[in-house]
Amino acid sequence: MKVEQLFTGCLAEMAYYIESNGEAAIVDPLRETEPYLRMAEADGAKIKYVFLTHFHADFVSGQYDLAQKTGAKIVFGPNAKAEYDIYNGTDGEEFQLGKGKITLLHTPGHTMESSSYLITNEEGNSPYVLTGDCLFIGDVGRPDLAVKQGALTEADLAGFLFDSLRNKIMTLPDDIIVYPNHGAGSACGKNMSSETFDTLGNQKKTNYALRTDMTKEEFIVEVTTGLKPPPQYFPNNVRMNKSINTSIDEVLHQGTTPIDPATFKEMSEQKDILVVDTRSKELYAEEGTVPGAWYIGVDGNFAPWVGALISDINQKIIFIADDELRVNEIVTRFSRVGYDNTLGYLNGGLRDWVAQGYEVDRIGSMSAAKFAELLTDGSVEKPVDVRKESEYLSEHVKGVENFPLDTIHQNFAEIDPSKEYVLHCASGYRSLIAASIFKANGVEKVSDVRGGFTDLKETKVLLTDYVCPTTLL
Ligand SMILES: [Fe+2]
Repeated sequence: MKVEQLFTGCLAEMAYYIESNGEAAIVDPLRETEPYLRMAEADGAKIKYVFLTHFHADFVSGQYDLAQKTGAKIVFGPNAKAEYDIYNGTDGEEFQLGKGKITLLHTPGHTMESSSYLITNEEGNSPYVLTGDCLFIGDVGRPDLAVKQGALTEADLAGFLFDSLRNKIMTLPDDIIVYPNHGAGSACGKNMSSETFDTLGNQKKTNYALRTDMTKEEFIVEVTTGLKPPPQYFPNNVRMNKSINTSIDEVLHQGTTPIDPATFKEMSEQKDILVVDTRSKELYAEEGTVPGAWYIGVDGNFAPWVGALISDINQKIIFIADDELRVNEIVTRFSRVGYDNTLGYLNGGLRDWVAQGYEVDRIGSMSAAKFAELLTDGSVEKPVDVRKESEYLSEHVKGVENFPLDTIHQNFAEIDPSKEYVLHCASGYRSLIAASIFKANGVEKVSDVRGGFTDLKETKVLLTDYVCPTTLL
């Protein structure tokens, strides 16, 4: 039996491809269908099932399109309800796949329909359990996303999660491999490891949530403490995962339309269209961009930042790409978090825009050493750190204010467009995004510190080791 973990870095997401004797199953597929169809084709296999561990909140999964194309049965756990045809498996139900089988284990907690899948191979051994967002490596799924007003609290869900882990997962053999749905970087948990799998035995020793001497009450307190509010796009993605959406083929067809510079210019001036510059940090900083464009580089945590920052999921988007060969990938990556209304890209890139003599917007850029020097002189009017509050609190440059990118829209009223801002983050990705949004919102004088906090640490500029949060109040 073939079991392959398919890792997508941008979303820290793991889908799975399982095949035995000409029958295949996909677990938690991303929005696009091509990669899975190609894998099955290469094995001469028919996709029989699409299994879902739960309704995902952090990406739009591709079960509907995949089932339409293959005739596969979509399987969810108990209690799941969708707009399209699904099969609700029951706890302990076995699904034959070639000469092996997949057993559904109902493991509610992260959400009520959450289920894990035990893989049993042709020899009758069960080497893997796919735990979805029930058990991660080093963490467990957050229990606050599926709260139902008046009916189900996060403490109730955490209680279910405790029982699921103790009764369904921890009772499996210690040498079984745990294959979760997410890894470090995902907002579905709070403390995930960068490892993508581990033995259950090792997790029992190292994962705080699996401590055997932990009471249910202690567990509830631990997993519900320190949770940050989920990104704004999460409820939209849950809704989309229960609905029939525009097919990925249609989304790709519309989004990959080349737009000539004159039309792109006209469109970029329309209030209801957003321009996103997806190129490398270097090109963006060197060449400038189309006026009003937001920078969200495709080679970073692109999809989560699209989801966190673009408040309307139906936003009309046109974009600038480094390379025409990546246009399809960029539209796919927008659609993975439900942004299906991409209308096309700048044909000929910024080079053709400039050749037309059209205006270019630029943000300033300075090295960490220069920033440190100006800061020491007291000549930076508004030095700002756009990392998360937790990163800022653990260590930051003295005299620099915190203005996290995560909450930039909610707090924008605090920004004075007449002042000169210099922004830094950890490595220079988030600060460019923030600088572009500052610029697009009328802040004329805004610069970015190249290399961010990583480079700032190399300079002599004064760092604080720790600031007690109360001193900031
Ligand atoms: Fe999840």
